[in-house]
Amino acid sequence: MSKIGTSIETAASILRNDGLVGIPTETVYGLAGNGLNTHAVLKIFSAKKRPSFDPLILHSSKDKIFNWVSHVPEQAQLLADKFWPGPLTLVLPKANIVPFETTSGLDTVGVRVPRHSMTLELLSALDFPLAAPSANPFSYISPTTAQHVIDQLGHEVDYILDGGSCNVGIESTIVGFENDRPVIYRLGGLSVDDIEKVIGKVEVQINYTSNPKSPGMAKVHYAPKKPLLLVDDFSEIIDDANTAYILFNERIVVDEKRQFFLSQSENYFEAAAQLYALLRYLDNSDFLKIVVKRLPEVSLGKAINDRLYRAAIK
Ligand code: TXA
Ligand code: MG
Repeated sequence: MSKIGTSIETAASILRNDGLVGIPTETVYGLAGNGLNTHAVLKIFSAKKRPSFDPLILHSSKDKIFNWVSHVPEQAQLLADKFWPGPLTLVLPKANIVPFETTSGLDTVGVRVPRHSMTLELLSALDFPLAAPSANPFSYISPTTAQHVIDQLGHEVDYILDGGSCNVGIESTIVGFENDRPVIYRLGGLSVDDIEKVIGKVEVQINYTSNPKSPGMAKVHYAPKKPLLLVDDFSEIIDDANTAYILFNERIVVDEKRQFFLSQSENYFEAAAQLYALLRYLDNSDFLKIVVKRLPEVSLGKAINDRLYRAAIK
């Protein structure tokens, strides 16, 4: 049996037997297992070589998602109504049924309803939530196609549901609540502006060190193996034939073949959708170094810069 396919039935039956399945979402592919089953959860950690202190998020259909939490603040409900299914993760007090293995010992759990028709069909068929971190080895670039999952974790998964390329392309935005007050812990595919339109001004608490609130937001993350330099302009760069440039849309005066554009039409959504595939492509190319120019801090530009900063050599 080929490991890549489109059978929801096959995926569901593997998951009911505590196997692991690569699932498509609108953000990135997830490495999914039964989030209520300790055995499946531990397999996810070991497949990714993920440290046990970095909690997983749960995915479920909209009618079941709040079964896995014990309290829903009013503003969380507003965000859920407006943005689910979509690239938003809410961190809320966990329900007792959720094992501490899933939440790395925390009393809270991240939950999300992904916006992808195949995965929504799968989630409707299951009576348990799917724990699913991004389907990449810990700290490497997240996968945005089924092939990326095969390339990196092919031996670790029992099956991969092929749902095409992820159309958002960067991970979900994570919103937690401190005394029912919303706080953004991770920038992502839903912009801060869009969130603030629904619930007003929100504190953004992004950390570039190990942060117990979001341990996975470590300083080095989403990183290619090759050195990546993040710059505001190119004046200090010593150019050579082995350097590739990632640009939003503006051309620079180096060989055309070494310029790679995130969006020719200056569209932040397109840029986010292209980002990881382009990083991966360049990481596997003959270029020795990647130089990226920071995007304007507008719309998803903020989240893209966040990922580039974590991917860059400091
Ligand atoms: O878009 C996404 O969110 C993707 C797709 C597959 O849904 N998933 C994803 O999962 O990015 P992962 O595990 O790579 O990142 C989840 C982040 C981690 O940084 C983790 O530390 C944080 O969520 N997280 C999970 N539970 C948390 C909690 N209870 N409190 C704070 N942060 C939490
Ligand atoms: Mg990840």
